[in-house]
Amino acid sequence: MPETLLLTGGAGYIGSHTALTLLRRGRDVVVVDDLSNSSAESIRRVNRLSGREAVFYEADVRDRGKLKEIFANHKIDAVIHFAGYKAVGESVAEPLKYYQNNLDTTLALCETMPQFGVNRLIFSSSATVYGTSQNVPLKESEPTGCVNPYGRTKLMNEEILTDYANANKEFAVTILRYFNPVGADPSGEIGEDPRGIPNNLMPYITQVAVGRRPKLYVFGADYPTPDGTGVRDYIHVADLAEGHAAAYERMKPGVNVYNLGSGAGHSVLELVRAYEEANGVEIPYEITGRRPGDVAQSYADPGKANRELNWKTKRTLRDICRDAHNWQTRNPEGYQKS
Ligand code: NAD
Ligand code: UFG
Repeated sequence: MPETLLLTGGAGYIGSHTALTLLRRGRDVVVVDDLSNSSAESIRRVNRLSGREAVFYEADVRDRGKLKEIFANHKIDAVIHFAGYKAVGESVAEPLKYYQNNLDTTLALCETMPQFGVNRLIFSSSATVYGTSQNVPLKESEPTGCVNPYGRTKLMNEEILTDYANANKEFAVTILRYFNPVGADPSGEIGEDPRGIPNNLMPYITQVAVGRRPKLYVFGADYPTPDGTGVRDYIHVADLAEGHAAAYERMKPGVNVYNLGSGAGHSVLELVRAYEEANGVEIPYEITGRRPGDVAQSYADPGKANRELNWKTKRTLRDICRDAHNWQTRNPEGYQKS
């Protein structure tokens, strides 16, 4: 019998790519997603690409009754908890929405999983928990500290899960701190589909590339970095998906924390140039002021994940740019117009 993973938020950007990787590796996948920031079309396409079938429940993870029904219907071996809201600016404007959803989804899982003997959980955390630290490359041992409500929900979730695992020794938690997930499956069938104006750099660039937006605004060129623009660790979403599969395969007792990043930092202008070169397009841009809350540079020391999970990134910045562009040109309006 294939092992079965429950993916909360599995219709979303990272969840759909992880579902594809797991299905291709012969795992069974159950997805629960309320579609608050995604489309069921992503799961239909994952099924088509994998030639297999993820079971999909449209439901809110906080709905304990529904969650019990899902655990009762399937023999779940582990949960990967992607579900949550992720827009930093929105979290500043509507903090309670973030605390309610991002924390209570985790509580609902911790309450329900033991009732069905499920005791392995992988959690989507973020490099944002390193706050304003500039101690790059960032190691997992770096002190944490968050600067906005979204980041605080990530840190609080890490703490809730650690407390819960300390109190319940059979419960194993793997915390994955993602750096900057970008790119798309090379098929161009699934990818990142933000609602409204993109908050993040890569989807903004892809929308400029297909003419949905006139130009990119580069938030600051006066940082203490080689070209003055912000430096980040961009990780191909397919590498990230493989990181989840590796984390599941190598899950250990207790609480284990891993950075998932490439280990390399690239500036905004480097990414723009790489995108132009990979795709033969021009990305017009204008340099504007810094975005409040941004740090000059953030990139991972992925050594712990390399060693303990036997995982490292394989895709290049060029692969990232090519695959992101392929997704956007095939789906200029995202899943909406499909
Ligand atoms: P996403 O918005 O595409 O996916 C999240 C999914 O969760 C969406 O499909 C949404 O509909 C669903 N969801 C939200 N609340 C829910 C609820 N209560 N019940 C059921 N479903 C719910 O985002 P993503 O980029 O795929 O991110 C996945 C996870 O990774 C999130 O927890 C996010 O905070 C974290 N993360 C993302 C990034 C990034 O840059 N994309 C970086 C670090 C961490
Ligand atoms: N940037 C621009 N123009 C844009 C968007 C971004 O110049 O239109 C710049 C930013 O200033 C930054 C870089 O591009 O220097 C990357 O910005 P993103 O918004 O793409 O990514 P962040 O590193 O700010 O944030 C991301 C996720 C967060 C997560 C964080 C972890 O969006 O959810 O990584 O470090 F918490």
